[in-house]
Amino acid sequence: MPRLISPSLLAADFANLQHEIEMINGSQADFLHLDIMDGVFVPNLSFGIPVVKAARRISRKPLDVHLMIVEPDRYIAAFRDAGADWLTVHMEACRHLHRTVQEIRERGMKAGVSLNPHTPVSTLEEIIPFIDLVLIMSVNPGFGGQQFIETSYEKIRKTRELIRKTGSAALIEVDGGVDLHNAERLFEAGVDILVAGTTVFSAPDPVGMIESLKSR
Ligand code: DX5
Ligand code: ZN
Repeated sequence: MPRLISPSLLAADFANLQHEIEMINGSQADFLHLDIMDGVFVPNLSFGIPVVKAARRISRKPLDVHLMIVEPDRYIAAFRDAGADWLTVHMEACRHLHRTVQEIRERGMKAGVSLNPHTPVSTLEEIIPFIDLVLIMSVNPGFGGQQFIETSYEKIRKTRELIRKTGSAALIEVDGGVDLHNAERLFEAGVDILVAGTTVFSAPDPVGMIESLKSR
């Protein structure tokens, strides 16, 4: 199984975004993870469409956009136009999830569905054939630098089993509190993509850290 890394720009130096994204370009990262928060779905605000557009101009990695917003349907076209390659919405934010993921795919993006820590894996049962990515939140969304929730391993194993049973091609991504101590166990539990914010951007050598996370 490939071991993929998606560094989260939320932990980058916002006064030097060009430099930070160029650093990611020169690393073994597989994606650039962009966290969009609306202050309603999560108790925090981050950045929006103009920053995604600017990242697109500089990034040579696919943009992995994580929407922590209510009514994401209103912005699917705008994120596509801004340059998102992968667009992930929250299960808890979508009334008609099947319609939402269909539209994401129709607009030429890969569709992801994210589960908050309290949302059971069983809620994916009917949607799994229609998606490209499951994003398991291993912290409550809204902030970087939080502590990893230990029950996430079991959740990942259950997701891997659901994917196996249904023959789905969806990848599994885990987001929140990922570091050198849990990376190996996460890959072993069945994760394809690790999101890492603080661990990458506060490392003295972020490029080396990405390499170490990959080779765990
Ligand atoms: C949290 C975001 C994460 C965040 C992860 O709501 O979805 O992507 O940037 O940050 P770390 O890796 O510091 O936990
Ligand atoms: Zn995220």
